[in-house]
Amino acid sequence: MPAFVASEDFSIPEVLNAYRLPSTVITRSPGRINLIGEHTDYNNGYVLPAAIDKAAYIALTPRTDKAIHLFSIDLNDSYTTHIDNIEKSTKASWPNYMLGIVLQFKNAGVVMGGFDAALTADIPIGAGLSSSAAVECAMGMALDKHFKVGLDKLTLVKMAQKAEHEFAGVQCGIMDQFASVFGKRNHVIKLDCRSLEYVYEPFAMDGIKIVLLDTQVKHSLGSSAYNERRLQCEQGVAWMQEHEPQVKSLRDATLAMLDAHVLPKDALVYQRCKYVVEENERLLNACQDLEAMNMQAFGQRMFETHEGLSKLYEVSCPELDFLVNVVKDNPAVIGARMMGAGFGGCTINLVAEDAVDALIANTTIAYKNTMQQQLKAYIAKIETGTSVLSCQGL
Ligand code: GLA
Repeated sequence: MPAFVASEDFSIPEVLNAYRLPSTVITRSPGRINLIGEHTDYNNGYVLPAAIDKAAYIALTPRTDKAIHLFSIDLNDSYTTHIDNIEKSTKASWPNYMLGIVLQFKNAGVVMGGFDAALTADIPIGAGLSSSAAVECAMGMALDKHFKVGLDKLTLVKMAQKAEHEFAGVQCGIMDQFASVFGKRNHVIKLDCRSLEYVYEPFAMDGIKIVLLDTQVKHSLGSSAYNERRLQCEQGVAWMQEHEPQVKSLRDATLAMLDAHVLPKDALVYQRCKYVVEENERLLNACQDLEAMNMQAFGQRMFETHEGLSKLYEVSCPELDFLVNVVKDNPAVIGARMMGAGFGGCTINLVAEDAVDALIANTTIAYKNTMQQQLKAYIAKIETGTSVLSCQGL
């Protein structure tokens, strides 16, 4: 049975029509939000992401030679390489997200000919909405369909994550690619990043909108700080293991263990680990709030997550802190926090529907006045994950 079926739920962007031949495969893979559970995925913890209504689209057409021609429609840029000798682009990053996954298919032994692939996306780049994971997954699905590989969803997710590790150089967890592929309309995914078991929790909230406030900044320390946090967490685990061999990751740790075995060694590593242990606990409690439909309690935990990310894990920045603080006492805002890896990108806000316009207008002015930056705002709807939109003749 084919793992992926053609979807009629989404229309094909107009701009892709120019790249559409009878043998073209067109795929869509969305960006993601994460309600709670940040920096927990690579610590074998839990996350609560969802795919959104902003996506990357790829139109892939076979060639008779072994060349790979890539086009970014949005950037009006192209890149050419060869299937037998895939070379990384040194000028632009977008081709590498496409090529990283091609290489994974090659490594898995898939025999591939040349192809043209055109990319377009409506996910804001650098906003922390995982546009790179979306491109990797859209490309992976296009290759799967075109070369008739028949991958299951989880294998595609793992290959896309590996592409990010090996081609983009970020030691990311599994959340972004998982959410992009497994997303389900009006549901968040409670994912256990250790067992990879997951459940869909309904998240259709009458009268509440998901508002993303985009700082429009991306501080350069992002990926190095990300990898550094990962190492600090691993260091904490190694210290605990000397006394508690059953602790394989921070998922298995308790605050008492941290107090006993990590705090005496290093206060900063302790602080990082404390955040992660608390965040896992917070997510489990937040899921109970969701099941009890107690959105106020859920939102309060989002604020607590922000506090932890800002003060203990130290992956926030003045712009993100400003955006959370400025909405904090607004009764129409149920919860808000920075989202994703940090050092820029968006805050995620749960906002009473009738207050959304005023909130965006007021925050835009305040942000401009205080941070001298232009704010962007998006309303996110929770949508279905990666799908094939067209595959005539296959
Ligand atoms: C990035 C990574 C994810 C995850 C988040 C933080 O988005 O790609 O794997 O670690 O940061 O929660």
